[in-house]
Amino acid sequence: MWEFTSPKSIVFGEDALEHLKTIEGRRALIITDKVIKSLGIVEKVANYLKEAKFGVEIFDEVEPEPSKETVVNCAGHAKQFNPDWIVGLGGGSCIDVAKASWVLYERPDIQVEEISPLLTLGLRKKARLITIPTTSGTGSEATWAVVITNKAERRKMELASRELVADIVILDPQLPLSMPKSLVADTGMDALINGLEAYISQWRNNFSDSLAISAIQTILKYLPRSYKNNQDKEAKEKMHYAATMAGLAFSNSQICVAHAMGHALGALFKIPHGRSVAAVLICAMEYMAKAAMDRFRPLANAIGIKAETDEEALEKFMQALKNLFKEVNEPISIKELGIDWENLQSNLEDLVERAIASTGTISSPRVPTAEDYRKLFIYAYEGKTIDF
Ligand SMILES: [Fe+2]
Repeated sequence: MWEFTSPKSIVFGEDALEHLKTIEGRRALIITDKVIKSLGIVEKVANYLKEAKFGVEIFDEVEPEPSKETVVNCAGHAKQFNPDWIVGLGGGSCIDVAKASWVLYERPDIQVEEISPLLTLGLRKKARLITIPTTSGTGSEATWAVVITNKAERRKMELASRELVADIVILDPQLPLSMPKSLVADTGMDALINGLEAYISQWRNNFSDSLAISAIQTILKYLPRSYKNNQDKEAKEKMHYAATMAGLAFSNSQICVAHAMGHALGALFKIPHGRSVAAVLICAMEYMAKAAMDRFRPLANAIGIKAETDEEALEKFMQALKNLFKEVNEPISIKELGIDWENLQSNLEDLVERAIASTGTISSPRVPTAEDYRKLFIYAYEGKTIDF
């Protein structure tokens, strides 16, 4: 038996933000960062809420790759203000802090690291959750997942609970227009890899497959356009929806080896999530493909690649991915992240240990051993073709 979990409502399209005017409640806490505030987006959201007679408070102290301390600080604000709606507004970091601090607000008896699919949280006694992404990448707006950094241990905590899936997701295609070019590429890569790993995961299912394939098709077509022209509204809109679809896919399937390796690299070397998973993607996919060859012909066909055999489909699909990397200037190896070889070698055992502990390891169609991960990091350093 399997349960597909999704937000109660996804509001999308032109002027989707105006939906906020129709929401009922008394106090809304907007959780965001200073960049989103400086762009005037917070003010716009707050004004719509005020039109709906909300008292509004803003917490704008979310940092990239947010820490447990920020979550605790934000939950303290929630406790003071007593909101009945939590509004996560921004990229994945803001939305993750909104989700995690919402838990601490409702359940002051538990710690951030205790959030788990196995623990009943009993949320929604005090507040409900609205998520409004301003980037097109993590999918956090629609997922059960939260990633919070434990700074002391330089470790990313991969947390999840079905109760954390938002009540309302608002996808306003105006919002991603403000993303700088490098963020378009990094977040677009994250969305693509979320979709790819959802598709290849051993927990994949009919529902996650259809969302993943559709997201992958869309991203391969529209990410280069979105990257090259910041005013290409059609491409921005398609990417915005595809990121949420990829999020829904992996939230109901799982992430795999690229995320396990990427989280380890990202936490140790302070690299943005999209770039760190991108740098290991080709090697991770080649490794996993050996146990999932039958997955590539349908995927290749879906993006218009004709192939007679599974092997041919894999080869051509991987080439399409490599072409995309070039088009949007994303790193295709760990070396291209600017990490030198000695630095990688001296951290290798730590990386392996972190990757093994990741939830992405057990859901991979081929579960890496420590020795496999050692080789994977070494091969991914130069982007060498996987031959084991
Ligand atoms: Fe991701």
